[in-house]
Amino acid sequence: MGRKILLEKINISGIESFDIYRKSGGYSAVEKALKTMTPVDVVEEVKKSGLRGRGGAGFPTGMKWGFIDRKSDKPHYLICNADESEPGTFKDRYLMEHLPHLLIEGMICSAFALEAHTAYIYIRGEFKYLIGILNNALSEAYANGFLGKNILGTTFSLDIYVHPGAGAYICGEETALIESLEGKRGNPRLKPPFPAFVGLFGCPTVVNNVETLAAISPILNMGGDFYSKLGNGKSTGTKLISACGNINKPGVYEIEMGITVEDFIYSEEYCGGIKGGKKLKAVIPGGSSVPVLPADLILKTAAGQPRLMTYESLAEGGFETGTMLGSGGFIVYDEDQCMVRNTLSFARFYHHESCGQCSPCREGTGWQERLLTRIENGEGRLKDIDLLADISKHIEGNTICPLGDAAAWPVSSAIRHFRKEFEFHIQFPEIVKNIRHGNIDKYL
Ligand SMILES: Cc1cc2nc3c(=O)[nH]c(=O)nc-3n(C[C@H](O)[C@H](O)[C@H](O)COP(=O)(O)O)c2cc1C
Repeated sequence: MGRKILLEKINISGIESFDIYRKSGGYSAVEKALKTMTPVDVVEEVKKSGLRGRGGAGFPTGMKWGFIDRKSDKPHYLICNADESEPGTFKDRYLMEHLPHLLIEGMICSAFALEAHTAYIYIRGEFKYLIGILNNALSEAYANGFLGKNILGTTFSLDIYVHPGAGAYICGEETALIESLEGKRGNPRLKPPFPAFVGLFGCPTVVNNVETLAAISPILNMGGDFYSKLGNGKSTGTKLISACGNINKPGVYEIEMGITVEDFIYSEEYCGGIKGGKKLKAVIPGGSSVPVLPADLILKTAAGQPRLMTYESLAEGGFETGTMLGSGGFIVYDEDQCMVRNTLSFARFYHHESCGQCSPCREGTGWQERLLTRIENGEGRLKDIDLLADISKHIEGNTICPLGDAAAWPVSSAIRHFRKEFEFHIQFPEIVKNIRHGNIDKYL
């Protein structure tokens, strides 16, 4: 069995309640941090751990905390990003549902490190059932002296509020989230200035993902050095992977970074292989925003090395032959899945979710959807494929926030690796119409 850190206690009955969580060692990291460490000590420990943000970009957490403007006389804020709207990603909701106190404990330690006395959990509005769970856990933490004024008799005070979003994917982008929390339309801001200097209400702010914050108390308990030795190279520790698609055992798994992709897909401990014994066709390993890879390239790098579940190994080969770990939304496609239809489905999503602020994204996502719809409906032209690739290139890197990249990469990578499938859709629309599940391999 692989090492568990975040989910170590998930099978303890009643672990979502304060009493059981506390009895099983919970909140010891708060005691350690508040009573024996300074805020800077906590930041240093997190730096040592090598923890990288689990929200998608993989930015080193300790370094991000190090940027907080401590000279500012304005209040500091900590925001937990619980928006989790990326297609294929469903690990944060799992953590919040089963281990709400692990998140709250991590937030208390993180707020202490950042000298923040107010923190928010910005939660995806559709997660209504989680809002009650979190508010209940927060009340328990207040009642037991872990939140509110002078926590554990120290000078540190903290309030945490749950703030539901209103169903916009863009509000997961940290600056759009901040705008939304301020009561405005969720349009991303230009950076710089970065939130560590000018964030919520113009004050120094850190935004971290749920899983990132949940990892803080285990790191403080075991020590940053120890955590940094788990995993593989610069991908330290463990990562939650939400696995879905054509696999025998979809679900949320905690892996130690560095296991092979093959092991993750085929071992009984994780996905348990492809459903119905079918062939693996493709994988999107990090949520819908990261490039799709065909079976041969997801199992082995172009250099023939086994592909590992790490930031570095998944990215090896750049976008020509690699992809990204992203948020760990691992989507598996068997041989019967249609890459054109799948790409259209993503393109529709990104078009719908574009905030419309930047014209390359606002217009480009619309054209992507229209062209893909045309191809899927058997009305495409061969030159549409290059046109699609060209549109993606014009979106990528030309927008205020990375939603543009997220919209471009699924399209450009699908064309790069599955061009023949797009061509076939255009050349033989009648055959495609009659293939229910989109498996055209035998015709190619
Ligand atoms: C369109 C878009 C949506 C995003 N959605 C989320 C999200 O739902 N949750 C999340 O943690 N990060 C999301 N991010 C990344 C955040 O902007 C930010 O990088 C992250 O919350 C930082 O936390 P971390 O350093 O702990 O990963 C999104 C980014 C973009 C561009």
